[in-house]
Amino acid sequence: MTANVYFFEDSRMAAVRLAAELNIGCEPIYHRSFPDGESLVQVVKPSSIAIIYRSLNRPNDKLIELMLAASALRDRGAVSIVLVAPYLAYMRQDKAFQPGEAVSQKVIGKFIATHFDALVTVDPHLHRAASLQAVVPGINACAVSGATTLSSMIALEATHDTILVGPDVESRQWVESVAASLGLGVLVGEKRRLEDRKVELAIPNIEQVRGRPIVLVDDLISTGGTLLRCAALLRAAGAKRIEAIATHCLAEPADLQALADGGVERVRSTDSVPGPTASASLVPAIAQALREVVRKMSSDGRR
Ligand code: R5P
Repeated sequence: MTANVYFFEDSRMAAVRLAAELNIGCEPIYHRSFPDGESLVQVVKPSSIAIIYRSLNRPNDKLIELMLAASALRDRGAVSIVLVAPYLAYMRQDKAFQPGEAVSQKVIGKFIATHFDALVTVDPHLHRAASLQAVVPGINACAVSGATTLSSMIALEATHDTILVGPDVESRQWVESVAASLGLGVLVGEKRRLEDRKVELAIPNIEQVRGRPIVLVDDLISTGGTLLRCAALLRAAGAKRIEAIATHCLAEPADLQALADGGVERVRSTDSVPGPTASASLVPAIAQALREVVRKMSSDGRR
């Protein structure tokens, strides 16, 4: 059985690292757009186990290209195709918030389950789904936790008086896990989203932050609106310095600038999405999960 990691150009760096960690080959997936916007995807070197690494930020075109890549790999004899998508898109729309809205999580989950034999992702945004397995029915699914990687980002610098702040109840699992590993204090906010970029937020016991360094901890920075509001409250309450860490950072340069202007001195994330905030690699954690997924697929007789 041959195994390769396959990558599109936008994910080259992490894919090469992953292949090196797994001690297997690494092959490009060639892609070009026709003048009418359609995609042409080509896989040159086949393998029986194909691991496609691609993060799903800005996902729409990527999903079509992944579908075409999976088809090309199967046509060339792949028996098992694993999608490694460190950031998994469309997980936040997990119900119809307004009548008539599509439940994107369900649709994209089924799409992935149709084209791939296994999915490995990191901290998927599953606030109402029972598990990642429930989102991608019938295939192997593994959600790697980014908490250890987040802890490692601040382990050497956080002083004993640092307080970790999670902006909302959903962030509690990450902020508490990082705080427990470093022995730091925690505050968790209460949030209500008003618009795409605007939230209403309160942080119970915020008076504790006076004169103390703060690290905001979240799974996802999208527009940065949540952290911006948090920072405003924390500054007003006398926080000494504020920085932020998150598993995934989708923020655009203008959003990062707004955070800096709003008093967030530094924003760091894992490399789940390539960009200026990416400062810790998820590759070792993903490699460990992949070994387990491939072992399980083998024992299930899927290859
Ligand atoms: C919400 O549940 C998430 O954990 C994040 O807090 C949220 O997605 C961040 O979005 P934004 O950066 O646009 O406020």
